[in-house]
Amino acid sequence: MAVGIFDSGLGGLTVLNAAQKRLPDVTFLYYGDNARAPYGVRDAEDVYQLTKQAVHDMWSKGCDLVILACNTASAAALRRMQEEGLPKGKRVLGVFVPLIEALTERQWGDNSPPREVEVKHVALFATPATVASRAFQRELAFRAIGVDVEAQACGGVVDAIEDGDMILSEALVRSHVDALMRKMPKPQAAILGCTHYPLMEKEFQAALGENVKVFSQGNLVAESLADYLERHPDMAGTGEGGYFTTGDPKRVSDRATQFLRREITFQAA
Ligand code: DGL
Repeated sequence: MAVGIFDSGLGGLTVLNAAQKRLPDVTFLYYGDNARAPYGVRDAEDVYQLTKQAVHDMWSKGCDLVILACNTASAAALRRMQEEGLPKGKRVLGVFVPLIEALTERQWGDNSPPREVEVKHVALFATPATVASRAFQRELAFRAIGVDVEAQACGGVVDAIEDGDMILSEALVRSHVDALMRKMPKPQAAILGCTHYPLMEKEFQAALGENVKVFSQGNLVAESLADYLERHPDMAGTGEGGYFTTGDPKRVSDRATQFLRREITFQAA
């Protein structure tokens, strides 16, 4: 009954890594749908179907709690899966809320009405599907007023990262930041709204300049998971974990080892 961490590919490892550091006694099961990544260029129905399929596979591998460590999947599938009803004892959580609570200076679960917050100009970098969903803006509007969000759909970045082409990823990051800054010359904060992007966080920060506060999800999601497990100790991960992929385990293991700088061995899902 490990805690499941799901992503379309390698990006969720940024969340897993932070969660493993924050919760060293918890067992995690990572699942990357690398064979079908990127999700961010697919339509919402497609992302929903693929996410549902992967989550069912994770449940059958023994996870009770699955974190969608993928913004694209969180935007297209989380609410729909929850509304359709989950099997008894199974839970699915997403990655938007901890980030938006940090941006809007809220404690976990503070559901008071939206209010003015410090930050007024926010740059959002995400996949085309996440940007099209407007899910960030919707979650933000529940918590804050008067925040101007400029979104940049970062086509190509996830593919380049999945291919391990860091030179191309860096060039794409620079060009997406340029495009964003033509629309919003002085963002105060930038949201890395795709779990692949923290792998390029230094490049985002360098292109944005040091005055822009960059928010990424790893530590924020890990902290919120720790809080959740404290309130729901029965959902804490124990037993068998591991790394599963729908892609080529050798190739995915090599990339994961390169990104996390420690030996990671995937097996076929
Ligand atoms: N890591 C996923 C996310 O957070 C990437 C989606 C994709 O596969 O395009 O959105």
